[in-house]
Amino acid sequence: MTGVARPLVLGLETSCDETSAAVLSGDREILGHVILSQDVHQVYGGVVPELAARAHLQKVDAVVAAALQQAGVTLGDVDLLGVTAGPGLIGALLVGVCLTKAAAYGIGRPWVAVHHMEAHLFAPSLEQADAEPPFVALLVSGGHTLLMHVPEWGVYRLLGQTRDDAAGEAFDKVAKLLGLPYPGGPEIQRLALHGDPDRHPLPRPMLRRSHGAAHPDYFDFSFSGLKTAVGQRVAELEAKGGLDVERAHVAAAFQAAAVDVLVAKTMRAVARTGCDRVLMGGGVSVNSRLREAMATALGPGGRLFFASPRLSLDNGAMVARAARFRHDRGETAPIHASASASLPFPGLVRYVHPERGGPRRAPTPRA
Ligand code: KG4
Ligand code: ZN
Repeated sequence: MTGVARPLVLGLETSCDETSAAVLSGDREILGHVILSQDVHQVYGGVVPELAARAHLQKVDAVVAAALQQAGVTLGDVDLLGVTAGPGLIGALLVGVCLTKAAAYGIGRPWVAVHHMEAHLFAPSLEQADAEPPFVALLVSGGHTLLMHVPEWGVYRLLGQTRDDAAGEAFDKVAKLLGLPYPGGPEIQRLALHGDPDRHPLPRPMLRRSHGAAHPDYFDFSFSGLKTAVGQRVAELEAKGGLDVERAHVAAAFQAAAVDVLVAKTMRAVARTGCDRVLMGGGVSVNSRLREAMATALGPGGRLFFASPRLSLDNGAMVARAARFRHDRGETAPIHASASASLPFPGLVRYVHPERGGPRRAPTPRA
């Protein structure tokens, strides 16, 4: 194996319903990358934790072997291993962590326990060299909604988060209400293309103008009320026998409301921090209406970073990239380290404005 930039990092992701492995060479060359989405959950309309863990167990060895083969390397060539250690489904996480530990021990190389949401932050930098801090980050996935100021890698200042459902969870639940399959995000986006977003007006939660920047609602999100509003609308339409013809309009209205809130809060963060570089990560950042609306709101003066859909959704390459960053800082995991369903975000502190002081309430980072 000659001519390959070092370090060679094997990244593994098994926190939810994707089994993925990647071989990353140097800063951003992905030599091998395999992403296997589990389809066992479709009939249940959501991820079943035990089934997810079993499916990872069945496939993970083959996924790692295929990524190494694609890269043209063997496990013994790898310099460093990284694995998502949390947050996520504990049974699913353990599959990746146990394999990584055993492999690292077997080849005598270090491993890094990666935080899943930090990995999402690194995804755009795999494709764009300038997707580097400082930036305002909006992380929107199936389990998290985080709005942060990132002055440098490893320093994460939390401005807002969701009070209830995550953004992706809201897409998935609303899809279920509309009779669409899991995962709901892509289904809603597809259906919304044929809908009128103004036909069934829906609330924009926590956007009250009367709340100033010191109010706890100012940067936080809430999606469960919006989901309930959709549920009521769906029930009314069903009672009238008109859901089928209105489904696309309701999907479009929900998507518009969710996107409006995500963009508005991000622009508040831009105004607050004075930083007009925005990075979006996580599965919901694939949403084309969100991408377009954020670009429009930022205008030509700002910068917007996001990864291609393959790297925005759960994948092993972003985990390898985050592992590389942590390892460069001298951080490796001891042999007794393990998975944690509620792993704290490393380096996450509440945002405090340099002059004015931060929001009065100290947000407690939720897992
Ligand atoms: O980051 P991700 O792949 O996994 C987690 O870490 O959770 O995000 C998955 C979430 C799901 O809730 C899915 O419905 C949502 O991302 N999603 C989308 C789109 N594609 C995936 N949401 C809105 N629009 C999309 N196009
Ligand atoms: Zn994710």
